[in-house]
Amino acid sequence: MVLGGGLMGSGIVQVAAQAGYKVTMVDTSDAALDNGRSIIQKSLSRVARKKFADDETAQKSFVEKVFSNISTSTNADQTASGSDLVVEAIVENIDIKQKVFGALDKVAPKHSIFCSNTSSLPVTKIAEIVSADRKTRFAGLHFFNPVPAMKLVEVVRTDAVSDEVFDALFEFTAKVGKTPVACKDTPGFIVNRLLVPYMMEAFRILERGEASAKDVDTAMKLGAGMPMGPIELADFVGLDTMKFIVDGWQKEGIVEPALVKPCTILNDLVSQGRLGRKTGQGFFEYK
Ligand code: CAA
Ligand code: NAD
Repeated sequence: MVLGGGLMGSGIVQVAAQAGYKVTMVDTSDAALDNGRSIIQKSLSRVARKKFADDETAQKSFVEKVFSNISTSTNADQTASGSDLVVEAIVENIDIKQKVFGALDKVAPKHSIFCSNTSSLPVTKIAEIVSADRKTRFAGLHFFNPVPAMKLVEVVRTDAVSDEVFDALFEFTAKVGKTPVACKDTPGFIVNRLLVPYMMEAFRILERGEASAKDVDTAMKLGAGMPMGPIELADFVGLDTMKFIVDGWQKEGIVEPALVKPCTILNDLVSQGRLGRKTGQGFFEYK
């Protein structure tokens, strides 16, 4: 079961279904599930076109076969009661994540493994809400955007999680075609601990008027070999998610404060509802 059918949840559903797992995508409304299905449809069509370049019938049957492994639901409790693995990819808010996991803990089978795809929250803190038994079956499983293309998953080990569960998650990650790395439960794990302060400094370059957004991106692509510049990447990640991450770290004081000090340009865009690619506007405009 994947909870949340947004950017990340839909990608996790897709790679699990492509690997042959039966997976249910759960969200709060039919509209959100439609959005998730449409992200998967586009991405799978792209994969199919590449896999079966000159064979439209094979493309169609590939997409249908993957979709046959996917169901959708707005009933999280009912879905969890029949799930071996729950991967949560909902909004980056500790209270909401805890509320959801607290409820699922009561209905999921004892053997179910719970994972959060959180970008920045301590997994141990999210897991505080569940029973002692479930804490031994609770870990971070951090995928990257776009999930179908990015090869890494950070598997986050809390003090409570059992070796058996941690090993099972490594195995699952490999089965969905990703390379797992083991991380301690530290802020931002490995990738975001490095990537988020870098992106924040790029916003500050704009605030200080030192270069244009386009030139910052061109500089990092051509001068540092990045596939996307930091501004374009922030739009890709979602500016709301970026803000949740840095505000959370700021509030908790868990990373060097100067690295995540509030940034007016980011706050203004979020308050205008310009959340990046997913809303058609962020730092840049998208058609
Ligand atoms: N679905 C399926 N496949 C996709 C895809 C999608 N949505 N997007 C890209 N791909 C595949 C392409 O088919 C292609 O596959 P092959 O290499 O097998 O040919 C490959 O990815 C590269 O795609 P393209 O050639 O079309 O485009 P590109 O070279 O411009 O790459 C990109 C696109 C992979 C997104 C690249 O720009 C990139 O790597 N950008 C940086 C992404 C990144 O840094 N993500 C991490 C964000 S941080 C995060 O996720 C953590 C967090 O907690 C916030
Ligand atoms: P998103 O806004 O695209 O999607 C979130 C989805 O969760 C929405 O469809 C929303 O309707 C749904 N949702 C909210 N509350 C719910 C609930 N109680 N039950 C079921 N569904 C609910 O967000 P996203 O970018 O997919 O991020 C999801 C999580 O993944 C966050 O924790 C984020 O930090 C993390 N993450 C994001 C990225 C990224 O690049 N965007 C990368 C890695 C990890």
